Amino acid sequence: MNDLDSVFLKKSRGEKICMLTAYDYPLAVLLDQAGVDIILVGDSLANVVLGLDSTTQVGMDVMLHHSRAVLKGAKNTPVVADMPFDAYQPAGADALGNARSFIDLGCAAVKVEWFDRCLDVVDALVAARIPVLGHVGLTPQTVEQLGGFKVQGRSQASAEEIVGQARSLERTGCLALVLECVPEGLAQRITQELKIPTIGIGAGKYCDGQVLVLHDMLGLYDRKAPKFVKQYADIGSAVLSAVKSYKQEVGSGEFPGPQQTFQ
Ligand code: KIV
Repeated sequence: MNDLDSVFLKKSRGEKICMLTAYDYPLAVLLDQAGVDIILVGDSLANVVLGLDSTTQVGMDVMLHHSRAVLKGAKNTPVVADMPFDAYQPAGADALGNARSFIDLGCAAVKVEWFDRCLDVVDALVAARIPVLGHVGLTPQTVEQLGGFKVQGRSQASAEEIVGQARSLERTGCLALVLECVPEGLAQRITQELKIPTIGIGAGKYCDGQVLVLHDMLGLYDRKAPKFVKQYADIGSAVLSAVKSYKQEVGSGEFPGPQQTFQ
């Protein structure tokens, strides 16, 4: 049994799964030390690391580059990589070859967001024995089609559609599902109905696990975080204060002092 299988068995024991994103070596080391269950190299790095507007603006080269760094730091934690939009959604994209690139690097699985041909992609990856996580609800790669960044599944029709997507992804062989920005009751229904675990982000407390974007929960991103984020630290302020002190000491000549100087 691989690491990811044993993490997903937590559902049968009623234990919660803890997933966080990371995009580089030093933060992957810290997440690994903290003992999170899964590290996700999310394409949210487009926003929180590269300052871009859309996750669709990163491709395989960027995702592989960051996955490599995370894998170096995550000695004991399974790493899941987001398949970037270009890697599987446009017609003719080599989804299988791109997914294989992440697995060859050492990732435990890839994650794909729901789109109209999602089941074909998942089917092909599962047939090639590539572990896959699905992602339904608010799917940022196709957010324009969903009417923007807002809660999904509020109407009966939309809720049924998301339930149908979740069921079909389980049937096609996904190992787990990320549920993003859906009402708590809908996430609870999907979680109860599926055998595979649900990992929620803005989906309430009944999911089998939770995931957050690391930079949001650390206060390391200058844009307003969504309502579902709980900020556990204010690293942005700590960095600002350290850099201001350094600047002041460089200006005054206090740094470097004798302790930082060779004679
Ligand atoms: O890209 C990402 O970080 C994600 C999480 C929000 C689940 O997909």
